[in-house]
Amino acid sequence: MATFSGLHLLFFSFFISTGTISVVSGTVFTIVNSCSFTVWPGILTGNGAQLMDGGFALNPGASVDVTAPAGWSGRFWGRTGCNFDSSGAGSCITGDCGNKLKCGGAGGAPPATLAEFTIGTNGGNDFYDVSLVDGYNVQMEITTGGGSGDCQNVGCVSDLNANCPNDLRVSDAGNVVACKSACEAFNKPEFCCTGSFGKPETCPPTDYSRIFKGACPKAYSYAYDDASSTFTCANANYSIIFCPR
Ligand SMILES: *[C@@H]1O[C@H](CO)[C@@H](O)[C@H](O)[C@H]1NC(C)=O
Repeated sequence: MATFSGLHLLFFSFFISTGTISVVSGTVFTIVNSCSFTVWPGILTGNGAQLMDGGFALNPGASVDVTAPAGWSGRFWGRTGCNFDSSGAGSCITGDCGNKLKCGGAGGAPPATLAEFTIGTNGGNDFYDVSLVDGYNVQMEITTGGGSGDCQNVGCVSDLNANCPNDLRVSDAGNVVACKSACEAFNKPEFCCTGSFGKPETCPPTDYSRIFKGACPKAYSYAYDDASSTFTCANANYSIIFCPR
């Protein structure tokens, strides 16, 4: 009984000090495949624990919950057209991370749509975005659940492969499977925001980045697209949805 009331008191003071009773469990990412085809998500950790060994297969209609601790940062992307054997060796047509199912610290080859997160510490803001800076391969959306602040759903919901300019297209067997960034396609300072273009003021949008921005207004279209592309939310869970409808 003494233990119980002690615990109760602790709980009560926690409630008062934070105004919330959702605690400690970490941020839950629900990764959802709404595509009609299998997607092999890749996860690259920047700070904190590796999640799901960095990669796995996700069938159409399936979803997986992954929990990240406070302070975690990293990115998620989708690999398409993969073939792996039972040992996890194999490769993907887009987003490949070096011929393996479990990326385990390796990033995906561009072009790939990215969902990027920095999870706050001590109840601070999370930062998140969907980025086309490394190009585009599959429709992706981030939706927020239960957070506080300006928690917007963001992403690239239109099919940019269908609208990809000819000189940025990546094709496989006659189908457009990905759309390169202009930086990757042409490797020029004005597209990559390098050299004398290495500052936000000197690296304005280009005709190419405008096509990306037009198709996906709430995604990063090029390196200095920050103002309209980074979002914050506190104490939320997130869904990362491939081919949102
Ligand atoms: C996040 O998900 C976990 C597990 O389902 C749940 O316990 C927690 O309340 C959720 N947090 C929010 C902010 O919805």
